[in-house]
Amino acid sequence: MLLLGIETSCDDTATAVVRDARDVLSNVSTNQDEFHAKYGGIVPEIASRRHVSLLSAAIDDALVRAHTSLDAIDGIAVTAGPGLIGSLVVGVATAKALAFALGKPLYAVNHLHGHVFAAFLDTAVEPPYPFLTLLVSGGHSQLVAVESATEMLVIAKTRDDAAGEAFDKTARLLGLSFPGGPALEALARDGDLAAVEFPRYRPEAGTLDLSFSGLKTSARYFLASDAARDVSPADVAASFQAAIVDQLIDRVERALDMRRYHAIVLSGGVAANMTLAAAFRRAGAENGVPAFVPERRFCTDNAAMIAAAAERRGNLDLRDPLTLTADPNLPF
Ligand code: KG4
Ligand code: ZN
Repeated sequence: MLLLGIETSCDDTATAVVRDARDVLSNVSTNQDEFHAKYGGIVPEIASRRHVSLLSAAIDDALVRAHTSLDAIDGIAVTAGPGLIGSLVVGVATAKALAFALGKPLYAVNHLHGHVFAAFLDTAVEPPYPFLTLLVSGGHSQLVAVESATEMLVIAKTRDDAAGEAFDKTARLLGLSFPGGPALEALARDGDLAAVEFPRYRPEAGTLDLSFSGLKTSARYFLASDAARDVSPADVAASFQAAIVDQLIDRVERALDMRRYHAIVLSGGVAANMTLAAAFRRAGAENGVPAFVPERRFCTDNAAMIAAAAERRGNLDLRDPLTLTADPNLPF
């Protein structure tokens, strides 16, 4: 199938044309960072208005780059949730109108399902079920047991902040620009990861919960303390990043101790972090299980992953273009 994907759940206005859930013919993303940077975070009202002004052009762009047209596509896949309601409705309303006008199928995709399949875009690898996904983004941090495209079980969640949120908030304390994750990673490059001993949340054995608020608070107190004067910002960044990576990898290894998976798969915006990706691959090698990390452009929010998830899930996400509504709290 040739699907047009539309993703507007947060601040990226993203469109893509994908063939057979794998071949990315075009992948367009209009980043809004410059509009949000001065506020230090995403302003929902600004995000939705930017989506309104950018989405039509982004759809045209995806079709042109893929050398195709609306007549030639087999359906439209749109993120229906979870996300910012004002942002979601722009993509959903546009997708409904297109599907209705063209008389083509409309797929309402869960944004997080998209992340799960991002690692299999533009590769020859078929998803090796059952696999374990570590999904780490700005809004979510969870482990998912993926038995098949239609049977996915969240086996662990964060008790508080998401990993990306912890990166963003600490980056802000370090005076870094928004979005904080990539900026903190860049600063950490020349830092000593053993300079500050930040806490690693370790729940009791056999438990997979994640938590980042203790770490975040500890970073805040450290930066406000006298001790911070003797440590460079790069050292703080490297130590903080190491604490996040250690916790995430510990939980992956615990999950691998509990049962056998055919692969481990990293996903979500934080998967773009090279230290995390390297540790994830190492964990796979040490545990004798293949590790897959998406290409960088498919880690953060994109519409190719939305089209891929729609097709992989068969007709499960098919919805009526007249009645579909966006759901900011769409459950996994
Ligand atoms: O998946 P995503 O694009 O949007 C959500 O669905 O949330 O993830 C965005 C998150 C942000 O918190 C951002 O700071 C983080 O991913 N991120 C990173 C890196 N690149 C993006 N965090 C750490 N290191 C990175 N290189
Ligand atoms: Zn995302």
